[in-house]
Amino acid sequence: MAAIGIGILGSGAGSNCRAILERIRDGTLCAEARVVISDVFDAGILHVAQEFGVPNAYLPPGKYRTRFEQEAEFLLVQMLHEAAVELVVLAGFMRVLKQPMLAAFPHRILNIHPSLLPKFPGLEAWKQALTAGETVTGCTVHYVDAAVDHGEIIAQRQVPVIPNDTSETLHARIQVAERELYPDAIRQFCE
Ligand code: GAR
Repeated sequence: MAAIGIGILGSGAGSNCRAILERIRDGTLCAEARVVISDVFDAGILHVAQEFGVPNAYLPPGKYRTRFEQEAEFLLVQMLHEAAVELVVLAGFMRVLKQPMLAAFPHRILNIHPSLLPKFPGLEAWKQALTAGETVTGCTVHYVDAAVDHGEIIAQRQVPVIPNDTSETLHARIQVAERELYPDAIRQFCE
């Protein structure tokens, strides 16, 4: 099977990105990471890319807080095309993608979200689950569409909420599940 070219977008520490790059390196995920791009200057995910020798870039997002300015999103498409990216992987990417990205990569953008969607879309989903008194939450890999944390679900993993969980302990446990689920879901997509 030929390796699929992936581009990873993220805004944070990059633990999901690291898990994906580790699985590529150990040969259990047949993909090639072509570029890592962040909307956050000096984000941890860019350092993870450097550690693994993956080309990486900061893309200034422009004046909006939750999405890219049009010009920046055009530039994003151009950067991904130039890197020959076939599948876009959102790994802790905290902006909503619009056009031209959605049209440039139809059914070719995946996201991971720290809840059992459709429950708790949006920010700090693990806190939302705690506040709602859930006894089970988890994480979801899904295709990206125009709505926030929405789109056809590819895979989910349950994570129990245990007594005395804080938002930190619960999020950490969800992230352990994410690091297994996301590379597996990408492999499933490639197959
Ligand atoms: C992850 O928990 C991911 O699920 C979440 O951001 C974190 C990024 O961590 N994403 C969202 O909430 C998207 N709506 P990472 O930078 O260490 O991978």
